[in-house]
Amino acid sequence: MIDFFHLKREQALPELFWHTDLHSHVCPGIDDGARSAERSVNLVRAMADFGFTRMIVTPHVTDETFPNTPAVIASSYLSLTESCRRAGVEMRFNCSAEYRIDDLLTHYLQTGQVRSLPGGYLLVENSWLQEPFALDAFLFALRNEYKLIPILAHPERYPYYHNHRERYEQLHDQGVMFQVNLLSLAGHYDRACRHIGEWLLDHDYIDFIGSDLHRLRHIESLRSYFCSRDYRKLEAKAHLIKNDTAFPE
Ligand SMILES: [Fe+2]
Repeated sequence: MIDFFHLKREQALPELFWHTDLHSHVCPGIDDGARSAERSVNLVRAMADFGFTRMIVTPHVTDETFPNTPAVIASSYLSLTESCRRAGVEMRFNCSAEYRIDDLLTHYLQTGQVRSLPGGYLLVENSWLQEPFALDAFLFALRNEYKLIPILAHPERYPYYHNHRERYEQLHDQGVMFQVNLLSLAGHYDRACRHIGEWLLDHDYIDFIGSDLHRLRHIESLRSYFCSRDYRKLEAKAHLIKNDTAFPE
């Protein structure tokens, strides 16, 4: 009897069309991602096995749950890079953060403590519950006052936008770039995220794709997705994806 399950698992991994990941939680011990340097190394090794050569790591910075200071992030980042070097895992790294749009981010902006992505981009995320107060004014200030280009992390994961898709158009039209999670397209979270992620893909709203990697379970979902037919839909939009072109070395 043919073991279809086994066949599916053994499907060859395609060569990915991009090699830079810009969103992950592999810095050890400072958010809900990797809990130890050993786990960090395992995650990075798995990303290298997929074909990634560069990771811009983005620990959470949120007022409520992970009020990470620049010094805390720098120390964890050093531990990450040193651990990978010692383990012989080849990866080029940059360090930034995923900033929740809240009072702490405002404070860091006002005091010059924000660590942007190369090229002057800033990865920001909304609250899960509601759109941040005066979001448009904040994004305007980010671009015009602080000269930073906002990348909105996983727009497909905010449920309050799902029935207000005109908001995606408004935000994108005002210069906010969208980073959709591969795990959403993979169906890792729920049907709604997948559906909206695909809708954003179909409507050419996706500028960046990110792993938002926290743990090894995510690696398994990514592997299944890369080997699936759904992945071909993303490949068809490769010309729109700026992961490898936006961030100077
Ligand atoms: Fe994240």
